[in-house]
Amino acid sequence: MNKSNIYQERRLALAKQICTKTGGGIAIVSTAPETARNRDSEFPYRHDSDFFYLTGFEEPGATLVMNISGTNTQLQLESHLFCRPKDAEREIWDGIRLGPEAAPEILGVEYAYSNHELDNKLGLLLADQDAVYIRLSESAETDRRLRHWMKQVRQQARSGINAPSELHDIESLIHEMRLFKDAHEIDIMRHAAQISARAHVRAMQICKPGMREYQLEAELLHEFRFSGAQSVAYNSIVAGGENACILHYRAGSKELRSGELCLIDAGCELDGYASDITRTFPVNGKFSGPQRALYDITLAAQEAAIAATKPDNSFMHPHEAALRVLTQGLLDEKLLKLSELGSLDNAIESGAYRRFYMHRTSHWLGMDVHDVGSYREPLAEVKNSSQEKPWRVLKPGMVLTIEPGLYIRPADDIDSAFWNIGIRIEDDALVNANGCELISRGVPVKADEIEALMKNA
Ligand code: GLY
Ligand code: MN
Ligand code: MN
Repeated sequence: MNKSNIYQERRLALAKQICTKTGGGIAIVSTAPETARNRDSEFPYRHDSDFFYLTGFEEPGATLVMNISGTNTQLQLESHLFCRPKDAEREIWDGIRLGPEAAPEILGVEYAYSNHELDNKLGLLLADQDAVYIRLSESAETDRRLRHWMKQVRQQARSGINAPSELHDIESLIHEMRLFKDAHEIDIMRHAAQISARAHVRAMQICKPGMREYQLEAELLHEFRFSGAQSVAYNSIVAGGENACILHYRAGSKELRSGELCLIDAGCELDGYASDITRTFPVNGKFSGPQRALYDITLAAQEAAIAATKPDNSFMHPHEAALRVLTQGLLDEKLLKLSELGSLDNAIESGAYRRFYMHRTSHWLGMDVHDVGSYREPLAEVKNSSQEKPWRVLKPGMVLTIEPGLYIRPADDIDSAFWNIGIRIEDDALVNANGCELISRGVPVKADEIEALMKNA
């Protein structure tokens, strides 16, 4: 399929939903602003995910406006793109711009204009429309602009022009679409996960006692960029020893010491899509007895969660499956005391495990590492009741991580052999018709395989 058709089809699918809800309207989605890092230096630019999902356009300073009318069977959709105008002087400094003249052909939009025309044109596009669809909690700037556009339309009231009277949040409609990945997205996500897996292999192979966390981070970054990934999907975690017990640790300068574990949680972003992999391995290439015991429990928990990741199970099934195995393991290793807790069920229900496992097992993955999409069923029948909506039912096309872990901080009531062991194992799962496909398994996960890889490096 021609690339611009993918985005046209997504706009059409969104327009159909808007047509069904309100018989049409105006939909407005802007991309992300550029962000200053300090003085006149900027952070590397990253487009807004929703905007990119609908346009495939990566430049800053752009807004998509969709004018939707007609009926579901005879839908009329006009897409208007506002983008940075061509500017020979600026392009010398900042790079080539697509410009409104080329945008219709390249992006498949019906109309394109300079972004300087946004305010004027919105005043016209909103005239006599009933409904506006926009992200309601995007930013103060969006709110200000929307008020300005509405004021412009209202000023034409004496000419018989009506301003929209309904404001709808567009986000939930787009996010529901983004929850189900299409073939184009799955291709990119598979590729992103392969690159990230190679980066983890590279880090394991090169790791030696005496290296620093940031040196392993450099190896990850090398593999990401060398393979064509544009960026990291999130700040890489490279955590030696006790740092592995800090969930949002960054790669720091700690020396990686023999006898300690190293936890790496790192993934690249490729063509706008994230990957998210965690592996934990011994710095000297050989797990100690207590490390191996907890590693095997974590891996068994991940295997149980993987088996539960299949269509018609709920989003919480994999978590519950992992939790049972982790908690049983904690009881077996006497990190939780059966004499105090009485049973496995009580250890789970009382939340006693949270001391060692304090996060969920999964999150959606896609354009954003913690991707969008409701974790609850969007069921109309429970919409207005006080009843809690059920957890989301897994369906083919959803992508989620499976990432159980165990984190043992030093404490008087804990056998010191387990102190400072932090383990997480994370893979990316695409739900398919029968279960799930792990798209990130290009890096070993079994303890023996990790040891063999490090030994032969
Ligand atoms: N790397 C972020 C996460 O695993 O959720
Ligand atoms: Mn994750
Ligand atoms: Mn992660």
